[in-house]
Amino acid sequence: MNRRYGVTVQKRRWAAVAAVTWAALALAGCGGGSTTAAEPGLSPVSDPVAGPAPNPGTETPSGVVVFSAASAPTKLSAWRLLLNDGQTLSLQKTVLPYSLNTPLFSDYSHKVRTLWLPAGTQMDYTASGPLQFPVGAIVTKSFFFPRATAQIAGAIGALKNEQVEGGETVDLVANRLLETRLMVREPTGRWGAVTYVWDADERDATLVRSGQNIAVELVDVQGTRTPFTYAVPTDAQCVTCHATNVSTGTFEAIGPTASNMNRRYTYTAGDINQLDHLAALQMLAGYTAPAPVMAVWNDPAASLGDRARAYLDVNCASCHNSAGRSGNTGLWLGLDVSEPLRLGICKAPTGGQQNRQFSFDVTPGNADASFLYFRLGNYRLNSDPPRVAMPELGRHVFHAEGNALVREWINGMAQGCP
Ligand code: HEC
Ligand code: HEC
Repeated sequence: MNRRYGVTVQKRRWAAVAAVTWAALALAGCGGGSTTAAEPGLSPVSDPVAGPAPNPGTETPSGVVVFSAASAPTKLSAWRLLLNDGQTLSLQKTVLPYSLNTPLFSDYSHKVRTLWLPAGTQMDYTASGPLQFPVGAIVTKSFFFPRATAQIAGAIGALKNEQVEGGETVDLVANRLLETRLMVREPTGRWGAVTYVWDADERDATLVRSGQNIAVELVDVQGTRTPFTYAVPTDAQCVTCHATNVSTGTFEAIGPTASNMNRRYTYTAGDINQLDHLAALQMLAGYTAPAPVMAVWNDPAASLGDRARAYLDVNCASCHNSAGRSGNTGLWLGLDVSEPLRLGICKAPTGGQQNRQFSFDVTPGNADASFLYFRLGNYRLNSDPPRVAMPELGRHVFHAEGNALVREWINGMAQGCP
């Protein structure tokens, strides 16, 4: 067993995993029509089975059963994507895990992401923006914390560390599942999105539409404890980040762009570039290497600028783009932006509390005089939810390492404004 920061790579046969318990049986099956004992996620996708699980989905012309977010089942197991035998979370065999070069920071939670496509369908490659998913596609993101060894009363004790991506299972003895978010491309072509909070016994998860607060206490290597409230977003909050164009209001996938997916992944079958792998599985049409590649935010192999820009792209640009929710601030933080003023450099802040202290969003060479940096690490007092800190949703703990990166980036800029 090769433990990689919480995601455990196990060379275990799926058949063996799938046989065990009721929970495993109930969770098995979405896309599970194939009878071959292929490696998980490595065989081309096959038709979903009409299983014993409740299935409120509608049938598309191609015969694929598709749930919608509106008719989402109350239990995650009904989607039949993940297997859970109480010891290990694993993926139904046509479900493919993926990871990102630079992920969204969410209070130090670890994540396992998956995608599933109906039989015979493919995503369409595009060099910029999210890959184009076919109707019926399902993308999930499960949040978990490595369990702290210290006993913590009244909260989930979580070890504070950075995740290293890879593997097709999560060891549930070593990790505590919190939430599984799910997006499904509905027959209308729109994405529906829902989230499930894992039950206390972690055998299944339950649909939560109006948010939930979960007490968590982070414990770092020194034993320092940080209690905080992990907030499961409401349906409306999902849209706030995922409708990257505020006027259309359309829910979009954010992470699976070519550049962010262009990295190797440690599958059970081996260490393979994710885009090459998808193309080989005939799940990605129109792809020719090389694809653009986004920097890994915490890998010093890439330049400081590329890493900071990748971090700001993923964590901020869903709102901070020309058409986005905070587009009207004129602060656009996507990787495609090249104009310094748009990146906040020597740009006077337009919105936000306390901005009068700051002449510019980014004061070159001086992070402490930059409103952008200030907003990464300061909450407005007496405000619930906190209003000053950015992003305004999705985190309740400051990201020391991410903030240090942005600080270094700003401090490294040549001083002076035109
Ligand atoms: C703070 C902003 C934010 C909120 C709130 C948010 N998301 Fe996301 N979500 C993101 C970003 C950014 C990514 C891509 C980066 C990543 O996966 O780490 C993402 C990724 C995902 C993915 C993987 C596919 C993709 O788009 O990359 C799913 C599924 C998902 N979110 C569902 C949800 C659901 C359901 C909710 C509400 C319960 C929600 N999200 C709330 C920002 C957010
Ligand atoms: C969920 C949407 C959302 C996300 C994600 C988000 N922001 Fe914002 N941001 C806003 C909104 C809305 C405003 C305007 C209101 C305000 O200033 O509070 C804003 C304003 C700002 C401003 C003031 C800009 C100006 O010129 O007035 C800064 C600086 C800022 N955000 C930084 C960030 C950074 C850095 C990130 C990522 C780490 C981020 N934001 C992520 C919604 C978001």
